[in-house]
Formats: sequence, C-alpha cells, structure tokens
Amino acid sequence: MDKDLQGKTALVTGAASGIGRAVALLYGQHGAKVMVSDIDEAQGRQVVAELQADGAQARFFTADVGDAAQCRQLVQATVAAFGTLDVACNNAGITGELSLTADYSLEGWQRIINVNLNSVFFCLKYELEAMLKQGAGSIINMSSILGQVGTPTLAGYVAAKHAVVGLTQTAAQEYAAQGIRLNAVGPGYVDTPLLKDFSAATKHALVGLHPIGRLGRAEEVAELVIWLSSDKASFVTGSYYPVDGGYLAK
Ligand SMILES: NC(=O)c1ccc[n+]([C@@H]2O[C@H](COP(=O)([O-])OP(=O)(O)OC[C@H]3O[C@@H](n4cnc5c(N)ncnc54)[C@H](O)[C@@H]3O)[C@@H](O)[C@H]2O)c1
Repeated sequence: MDKDLQGKTALVTGAASGIGRAVALLYGQHGAKVMVSDIDEAQGRQVVAELQADGAQARFFTADVGDAAQCRQLVQATVAAFGTLDVACNNAGITGELSLTADYSLEGWQRIINVNLNSVFFCLKYELEAMLKQGAGSIINMSSILGQVGTPTLAGYVAAKHAVVGLTQTAAQEYAAQGIRLNAVGPGYVDTPLLKDFSAATKHALVGLHPIGRLGRAEEVAELVIWLSSDKASFVTGSYYPVDGGYLAK
C-alpha cells in the first residue's frame, strides 16, 4: 500500500464507529499518526488499539464536537502529541429527529444543527489556526448526498449537510493561497450504526435508490477521504465529492 501520508498527523472526529473508524484505520495504513476522537471512549480506544496493532502511532482524545472548547482542546492535544496537524476529517455526526418539518421540535433542530453543523465550524476554526502556522494542510468535511438534495423527515440533517458544503467552499477560497485545501465528501447511504433506527424495510427501500444496487461500505468512503487528504489531490479544493453508488446521478 502507498504510504501517501507518511509522517503526517491526521485527526478524525467520530472515529469510534462506521465511516470515521474506517478513515482512521486507513490513515494509519497510509503512514499517518492518528488522533482518534469521539464521545464514545471505549470504542474509540478500541480503534486506537487496532491502529497500534497495525504498527501506526495513535492516540485517543474524548471530545464532544458540539462544544467549541472541546474542539479547541482536541486540536491542541493533537499538536501537543504529534507536533503538527496536517490532515483533519471532520466526520462526527448524527441522524437526529425523524419528523415532518412542521412537527420538527425546536430542541431537535438545535441539537442537529449543533452536532452536524456548528461542530464542523468549531473544528475548522481551530484546525485552520494550527494549519496556518504550518502553511499547509488538508481538511475533509463529511457532508452527505443529503448535502445536495432533500428528503422527507430529515429537515435538520439536510439543512446541516447542505451548510457544511457551503462552509467548505467558503473556507477553501479563503485559505487556498496559504496552502490549505478543504473539500466535502458526500456519501450515499452506508451501512453503519447511523442507520440502526431504520427498519429492515426502510433499508431495503434505500438500496433501491442507489443504481449500484446496494448500500455503501465505510471503507469505500474512506478511500476517497484518503485521496483528498493526500498530495495526490494537490489541485483539488473547494469541491464536493459524492461517493454514492450513483444516487445523485438520477
Ligand atoms: N451512514 C450513512 O449512511 C451516511 C451517509 C452520508 C453521510 N454520513 C455521515 O458520515 C458521518 C459518520 O457517520 P457514520 O455512518 O459513520 O455513523 P456512526 O454512527 O457509525 O458513527 C458516528 C460517530 O460519531 C460519534 N459522535 C456522535 N455525536 C458526537 C459528538 N457530539 N461528538 C463527537 N462524536 C460524536 C458517535 O459516537 C460515533 O462514533 C456522519 O457525519 C454522517 O452524517 C453517513
């Protein structure tokens, strides 16, 4: 395997499970030192153990990405542990409430916007500060196919994921000249614990929305994230990349 990220430091939020876990493990395989972060400490430490067993340097830091101070501490802890912050994947997210828009609770709205959108701003703010000191960096923000189109009962999720794309495009323009690239990734439906509240019938229906005829695998999203993180994507910034089995092509 190419060691595209040899010697670099990579930070992943929501890295205890699903897509974030797959990204963290692949970062390690590509030679990066990995800061694994999540609110789930037990599972997060398990991912660190997997990385270390595979020969990678890795640490765990508990951070709730809905809290700006914890995001700042996470970035500080990463730089303190490994010396630099070269790559960040702002991935943590939740599905939030499933309600029609008029029924969506105010508390549910505040929560999804905080965990899926404010979090990305909080992480970006402190990651950019660290990367500006180095004059280089690559940031990948986890959006969704639902960052491009809507779907009933997911107003908060859809609004947050669209906003993540706009935030990425804006910061990419602001920091391109300083050597920092930012891109957004838009997975189709991927079979992770995020879909745990969906019934078997709903999952079956979701399969039919992907021309490729199945749900995605976390590792398939991770491959795109690794490429965007590496210097192979040196001319790529401000973009939204779907990895969606053809969902958006319809
Ligand atoms: N699974 C899908 O179908 C799918 C599709 C498109 C986009 N995404 C996005 O991919 C990202 C990862 O999703 P996944 O499918 O791997 O989900 P997952 O539930 O498997 O993993 C999400 C991780 O985020 C962590 N997390 C949740 N709230 C947090 C918080 N406040 N602070 C820190 N960590 C927190 C969880 O503990 C968990 O480990 C999310 O942003 C999600 O919206 C997922």
